[in-house]
Amino acid sequence: DLTPGPVNVRDFETAARDRLDPAHYDYFASGAQDELTVAANEAAFRRRMLVPRVLRGGGPPRLETTVLGTPAAMPVLLAPTAFHRLAWPEGEPATARAAASAGVIMIAAMLSTVSIEDIAATGATLWFQLYPQPDMAFTESLVRRAEAAGCRALVVTVDSPALGRNERGDRNGFHDLPPDLHCANMREGGHVRQVVLSPHISWADIGRLRSMTTLPLLLKGVLHPLDARLAVEHGVDGIIVSNHGGRQLDTAAASLDRLPAVAEAVAGRVPLLLDGGVRRGTDVVKALALGATAVAVGRPVLWGLATAGEAGVSRVLSLLRTELENALTLCGATGPGEVTRDELGGILA
Ligand code: FNR
Repeated sequence: DLTPGPVNVRDFETAARDRLDPAHYDYFASGAQDELTVAANEAAFRRRMLVPRVLRGGGPPRLETTVLGTPAAMPVLLAPTAFHRLAWPEGEPATARAAASAGVIMIAAMLSTVSIEDIAATGATLWFQLYPQPDMAFTESLVRRAEAAGCRALVVTVDSPALGRNERGDRNGFHDLPPDLHCANMREGGHVRQVVLSPHISWADIGRLRSMTTLPLLLKGVLHPLDARLAVEHGVDGIIVSNHGGRQLDTAAASLDRLPAVAEAVAGRVPLLLDGGVRRGTDVVKALALGATAVAVGRPVLWGLATAGEAGVSRVLSLLRTELENALTLCGATGPGEVTRDELGGILA
């Protein structure tokens, strides 16, 4: 029962914390080491203030957008997050149905607890997130499965040449899925492959992936403008400015703080997305103003899922939608494309 229920994303986190096994809550909530980057992501949004325009008379904003050819009801995607069955018994298909009802893009994680085929069976609009595996034949088989399942873009996570150091996990002794759950995409015949996060991953692998698929290719986890430039030179179609929600390199810069420099380096050649710390409609406006075409949300979706399954994710997405619509209206913008740094819509102080 959601009445009176959570009225914002923060309330959903509280509700999720009440429902989840504490070790599982910690898995979702935590970041690396001192969790300074987790805090910095949200603090960066809190620090930036909007300067709205008035009397523009544009009427209610339209939130629809298109990201790399995929239409979406709003510029908010579901970031790829592992292990949804830890949050809710049905797992990823519940999340996917909520995404489909909201008309938004779900980036399905390679480390999902339900296979990409079974997630796609919900009819949701999917992109597929990949950790390239040293076994290139296996990596290619994942790409082919994602294509066959109808995924409309490939998101390659590049901030994970090793796993970040998670101390809450150490304290809780939580490092792996419980025996009744597994990474369904890693299953081959009778066994489940171990995922490899390899420090050997390089631009050569991006070149290989580029020639492997005609799907739009995005790199997720870029913070440095020179890497953004290299990405464009390697034929990448989009960049997700991200520090993995503060779960990889602790003290990595806040995503929002890195967005202007990356936007300057890319100079409009490919669309930019941002994730990390987006909790409010005004956060979306700030990211758009600093150069993002869209944002993605990780933990907010998990809090909705853990609280009430599909209904909880739906509610989180509708809260964000309502907040974004309100923020755009109050900024004097008639749509996401109108929010820029210097004129029209929200302007940052
Ligand atoms: C993640 N993230 C992530 N990213 C990725 O590329 N592959 C993955 O398997 C996962 N798994 C994962 C699990 C959990 C529990 C979290 C919280 C995050 C990172 C995710 O895509 C995204 O970058 C962050 O979650 C964004 O930050 P917020 O919105 O959670 O603050």
